Amino acid sequence: MGLRGDVAKVLIPEETLQARIAELGRAINATYTDEDRPLLVCVLKGAFMFLADLIRYLEMRHEIDFMEISSYGAGTVSSGVVRILLDLEQNIEGRHVLIVEDIIDSGRTLDYVTRNLRTRNPASLRVCTLLSKPSRREIDVLPDFVGFEIPDEFVVGYGLDFAEEYRNLPFIGVLKEKVYAGQ
Ligand code: PRP
Repeated sequence: MGLRGDVAKVLIPEETLQARIAELGRAINATYTDEDRPLLVCVLKGAFMFLADLIRYLEMRHEIDFMEISSYGAGTVSSGVVRILLDLEQNIEGRHVLIVEDIIDSGRTLDYVTRNLRTRNPASLRVCTLLSKPSRREIDVLPDFVGFEIPDEFVVGYGLDFAEEYRNLPFIGVLKEKVYAGQ
């Protein structure tokens, strides 16, 4: 019934996600100091839940900011068109910036964001993504921190949507085909 009834299988259960996010937090703690005071840039909307959990594990002083980028329409395949819907509030010149993404698929979004942010002269620019689909890559982007490499399946949950729904699921799941058939 409801949202969960549309899920064919759970790809990454909640406990596995949380354990890996704790590990990513430890790796990020080992990378930055209080003096670095990194700015975590959450790429909306998909990364909001990941950011919220990830920062609970951070021990160094840091700030957060948000950017909204859109590359997908309502369907399951990237249109390849990248747009900034919401830009950062902060000036990042001289700042240590960590981009927080939910998923890297073709790499187009991240390629656009990193090229855009580099023109603003940050002191450093790193990328942390929860998920990566290496088999779908069209542009070679190299994230510094990766939670899970996953196969080429359309995934939802933990921030990721299908037609703006399913973001609230606490796990990463695969939808039943009938849900997106005809898209
Ligand atoms: C998703 C995801 C990444 C991007 C990855 O965003 O959050 O930003 O696609 O795909 P790519 O590597 O092929 O560019 P989406 O456009 O679906 O927006 P949303 O996060 O607001 O759902």
